[in-house]
Amino acid sequence: MDPLILGIETSCDETAAALVRGRSVLSNVIATQIAMHAQWGGVVPEAAARAHVEAIIPVIREALGGTPLNRINAIAVTNRPGLVGALSVGVTAAKALARSLSKPLLGIHHLEGHLCSVLGTAAEIVFPHLALIVSGGHTEIVRVNAWGNYEILGQTIDDAAGEAFDKSSRVLGLGFPGGLAIQNAATGGSSKRYALPQGLSGDTLNFSFSGLKTAVLRLAESEGKNLSVTDAAASVQEAIVKVLVERTVRAAVEFELRQITLVGGVSANLALRSRLEQQAQRLGIDVVVPPLDLSTDNAAMIGLAGAVRFAQGQRDPLSLDVFPNADLPN
Ligand code: KG4
Ligand code: ZN
Repeated sequence: MDPLILGIETSCDETAAALVRGRSVLSNVIATQIAMHAQWGGVVPEAAARAHVEAIIPVIREALGGTPLNRINAIAVTNRPGLVGALSVGVTAAKALARSLSKPLLGIHHLEGHLCSVLGTAAEIVFPHLALIVSGGHTEIVRVNAWGNYEILGQTIDDAAGEAFDKSSRVLGLGFPGGLAIQNAATGGSSKRYALPQGLSGDTLNFSFSGLKTAVLRLAESEGKNLSVTDAAASVQEAIVKVLVERTVRAAVEFELRQITLVGGVSANLALRSRLEQQAQRLGIDVVVPPLDLSTDNAAMIGLAGAVRFAQGQRDPLSLDVFPNADLPN
């Protein structure tokens, strides 16, 4: 039988724990801090760390359900990148469990977790494949040669796609976090009403989203009370989705990759999912997207990455450190 892995994730504003066996997600518990951070309009690192401290034990307990702790074969925890104070809470809990149970500890890169989230589907994952990682902090087109062997083909030169949603949402008065708020507000809106910039032009695989926020700000100022928030939200979503899909599909064609995975919190966006599926499938390229509860931050994806890394022989010492910034392993 595949080993039983406890996954723990506290890199930003979700306290999460999950039990995973092979590709099976047995439990996936998330305590979100969104309501708390929403009052400040964004994630406040100190408050996040303190909320993780309060939630971590109950969340792990709930993820275990009736499973005795000594049945776990390894503990996988996000140790990079992320907010240092937040990461430390999960890593400290993982170390305490690893030490008291004498079980292996594995430090997982948060983005490798997102990449592995597609293992939570029934799809056959082929190598090499192309991944689009779109989250609050990252926008990367990655060639996944094997688990653990990643080549970045394109990335944002400024804001991440999720950040573009969040900042535009704030300007439009739609609140935090912005992705879902914009998606909901965009329903029934016309994306053609307002022309917004799509960043870098030409045949690059990189992205630039910082101009979008400024353009939305200018639009809101110039339209004033006449601004249609619905049409503006639809236009923002269209500007982001269009460029993400165009570049990802072009990269797949250029590098002759027959499968695209769409991962990270922004992959929850329904317009992005359907547009990518439509355009890729026209070219005979397969698209795999995790279910919604594995799209935004969660610990099941950390457990899934942990299962892969455990099988590859990774074992980390109890001195495992946390890192605010870290490149994907290669
Ligand atoms: O992966 P994630 O949960 O956390 C990070 O690692 O950053 O991604 C969070 C990002 C936020 O920017 C949020 O606005 C965005 O994902 N997001 C969405 C949707 N749901 C979450 N963006 C667009 N549409 C959504 N439905
Ligand atoms: Zn994430």
